[in-house]
Amino acid sequence: MQKPKGTYDVLPRESKKWQYLEDVFRSVCSYYNFKEIRTPIFERTEIFHRSSGEESDIVKKETYTFTDRGKRSMTLRPEGTASTVRAFVENKLYVDSLPQKVYYYGPMFRYERPQAGRYRQFTQFGVEAFGAESPLLDAEVISMAYHIYSILGFDQLVVKVNTLGDQDSRDNYRNALVDYLTPQKEYLCNDCKERIDTNPLRVLDCKIDSFDSPPNMSEYRTEKAQKFFDGMLEYLDALGIPYEVDETLVRGLDYYNHTVFELQATIEGFGSQNTLCGGGRYNGLVKEFGGPDIPGIGFAFGVDRTLLALEAAGIKLSKPEYINCYVATFPETRVEGARLVDALRLSGFITEMSHEEKSLKAQLKQADKMNAEIILILGEEEFNNEEIIVKHQGEQINVKLENIIDYLDSLNLGEINE
Ligand code: HAM
Repeated sequence: MQKPKGTYDVLPRESKKWQYLEDVFRSVCSYYNFKEIRTPIFERTEIFHRSSGEESDIVKKETYTFTDRGKRSMTLRPEGTASTVRAFVENKLYVDSLPQKVYYYGPMFRYERPQAGRYRQFTQFGVEAFGAESPLLDAEVISMAYHIYSILGFDQLVVKVNTLGDQDSRDNYRNALVDYLTPQKEYLCNDCKERIDTNPLRVLDCKIDSFDSPPNMSEYRTEKAQKFFDGMLEYLDALGIPYEVDETLVRGLDYYNHTVFELQATIEGFGSQNTLCGGGRYNGLVKEFGGPDIPGIGFAFGVDRTLLALEAAGIKLSKPEYINCYVATFPETRVEGARLVDALRLSGFITEMSHEEKSLKAQLKQADKMNAEIILILGEEEFNNEEIIVKHQGEQINVKLENIIDYLDSLNLGEINE
């Protein structure tokens, strides 16, 4: 029996790292006043077709779609923006004060060719902010993504930004691109041949074809769109976020306009799946979903990829497996030992004891294997004196049982990521 291709198990020895990362995401969200939203893991298929675009790779090749017993077409969510916009409109969150800022964390599904950093079930942490058409919000969202990496101690990355402009800029550029690509059509890969008609912007993002001096996006931008972008860059400068403007950055989903951005790892030898976080503005999407014309912007982190990047950069997120206390007992004191273990756990100490009767030597060996920070030995004589032996950092003392929790509290036992 094996897991499906492109999936992974998070094993007990690794789950602390995931929890730590999730804690960082959640706490940064609270500083920026983003609140959690949880949406279903599957949605009606049209939700994703409407938002990502019929011609996007996600919709054409990557969705996990099935017909349910009521003969409705359902799709496992390939990303979080569409579901969030659907929930925003369906629950009329726009009647509350704007901007509304939400975040989500959870599994996404794409039928892609698996490789390191690219999976069929992966985890995204994402944010979406609705209701402010100000370049300040764009800068704020980018700075939030950047600061998450700063907090994690990761600086081997580049923030790439671009603007796709407003509808007029996009139409102008699209026409110029079609004029440029059409004469070379026969040399392009089969996907790009089709994309010339359906989504020419995506041709520039092709992993197979490359192009000599395609038309420059900035030359087709309206003045208004350029002003918005310049305003955003000014805020990024003011917030001290280092960035590169990359005119070729187009992103793979159809809903974007104006600002698009990616945070890419720059660690040598990290591999091709180096985009850790991607996002952008999607004015018009809320209206497309039947809501009022409210603008939106957001990003999503690949949590798996971020973990790989942190590991490659040698950043330790948690101590190796450890427990706070191991309680060693003798046959006469096992019941009292079990009671003590319970009390310690309820006081917040990660505590274990042997579930089988074992010699003291075997118990000490087990404690060592579990990386116990402290060993408590409940001997019969000590117990009769209402005491317990505490072994900590090579020292051994007797502590009154009634004081043991206070005593352990005073030791400030381990915290991950010290
Ligand atoms: P995306 O660029 O498709 O954007 O995905 C965002 C991030 O998810 C990527 O940068 C990557 O780190 C991770 N990711 C995507 N596919 C995979 C995969 N197969 N395996 C592992 N990681 C993956 C979105 O999903 C947009 N919804 C982001 C957004 C939110 N835009 C506005 N708001």
